[in-house]
Amino acid sequence: MSLEIPWDRLFDAAASAQARAYAPYSRFPVGAAVMTDEGSIHAGCNVENASYGLSACAEQNAIVRAVVEGGKRLVAVAILANSSAPCPPCGRCRQMIAEFAGPDTPVRSRTQGGEEARYTAGELLPHSFGREFL
Ligand code: THU
Repeated sequence: MSLEIPWDRLFDAAASAQARAYAPYSRFPVGAAVMTDEGSIHAGCNVENASYGLSACAEQNAIVRAVVEGGKRLVAVAILANSSAPCPPCGRCRQMIAEFAGPDTPVRSRTQGGEEARYTAGELLPHSFGREFL
């Protein structure tokens, strides 16, 4: 079964979130949006902290919002940043994506200029640690 992903809606949601990013230290605002298997879309932005290590990524916050709002499984992840090349998710976010996505779940990243990179969750984090090991 292949599900049609409304990527433009996802990137619109990511853009609205990016506009609210709290990134006074890095000045690198990021927006992300995830879609669940029930079709709901949840967006997040990065939220930094004066104690830099406490900063939370956009993908992380989008996933946390999905879970709070009842989401269980992710079917798509969209990331939007102002980098010149599409920004791939950091290692921590890859692990968070792996928890709620399958290896074939598509992850797309776009620049402001519309350049896009396409990955799957499994490509981003092969051999991931998961609950099956616990
Ligand atoms: N950041 C994200 O939110 N997502 C990514 O995929 C890469 C990095 C944030 C973390 C930090 O607030 C800023 O971008 C610079 O690293």
